[in-house]
Amino acid sequence: MSENIIYCYSGSGHCLDMAKTIAKGLGDTDIVMMRSFPAKTDATEAKRVGFIFSCMAGGLPGDVESYIKAIRIAPGTYTFAVEQYAGYLGCGLRKIDEIVPLNYWTGVSNHSTAIWLMPHTLTFPPTSPENAQKRVDKKAAKVVADVLAGKRSERRPSKAKPFELMSKGLGKTHAARIRKFEADENCTGCGLCASLCPRGNIRIENGKPSFSANCMGCLSCVQLCPEAALNIGNITKKRERFPDRNVNASELLEKIIHID
Ligand SMILES: Cc1cc2nc3c(=O)[nH]c(=O)nc-3n(C[C@H](O)[C@H](O)[C@H](O)COP(=O)(O)O)c2cc1C
Repeated sequence: MSENIIYCYSGSGHCLDMAKTIAKGLGDTDIVMMRSFPAKTDATEAKRVGFIFSCMAGGLPGDVESYIKAIRIAPGTYTFAVEQYAGYLGCGLRKIDEIVPLNYWTGVSNHSTAIWLMPHTLTFPPTSPENAQKRVDKKAAKVVADVLAGKRSERRPSKAKPFELMSKGLGKTHAARIRKFEADENCTGCGLCASLCPRGNIRIENGKPSFSANCMGCLSCVQLCPEAALNIGNITKKRERFPDRNVNASELLEKIIHID
């Protein structure tokens, strides 16, 4: 049994990169992925349990909320959470805190992977992917020091009511957008998008991906396609992809990554 467990959701690798950096700093850590139902929900023997995830539509991504409800943590365990976001924290930290009371929580702005909403140069604060990476690495070092020192946050994360409404409203916008997923002529039919899709929403038919309606918007397929051949209608056609450079597709497919 590892001393620490970090539950991590990551769409295009940025949160997984941060989880790996924090795990290296803490030592003896299992990173349990929450892209689909976590492979390990019994965290009762861990000394510290953390959550690292991205803000999505103002709230928690995918089915993370229900996954966290399934995790068992022993009373007295030190708990922490780190949220990455592009422009605002939203209500995700509070939602976790209501399920697993958090001893320590913090957030850090990364460049937006929400390329269907806006390119990273338009996010607030505007920044380059390189600067965003520096900011995330600096934050990760601080989180390691704080967690090892057993630091406690003085207040609970904000309820952020407007974001709660926004995350509930995601459904309609999302449904309209996912109908626009398509592969262009650069697609080689390699099938990486289908392997990466946490919901099994993509099938390769006649050498090209075919999309169903069960998408949760992680954008792994769009961001990690080696040919940048997947688009959401015209929205992403001229937009740069920026999957995390320190994470590869096979790591996103892991269920548990152990770091000594
Ligand atoms: C579908 C989608 C929705 C997002 N919504 C928000 C949002 O509402 N607010 C925000 O600040 N960032 C938002 N983001 C940006 C991510 O939180 C941020 O880029 C994060 O670093 C992504 O981490 P990941 O690559 O590990 O998934 C969104 C990203 C995606 C893909």
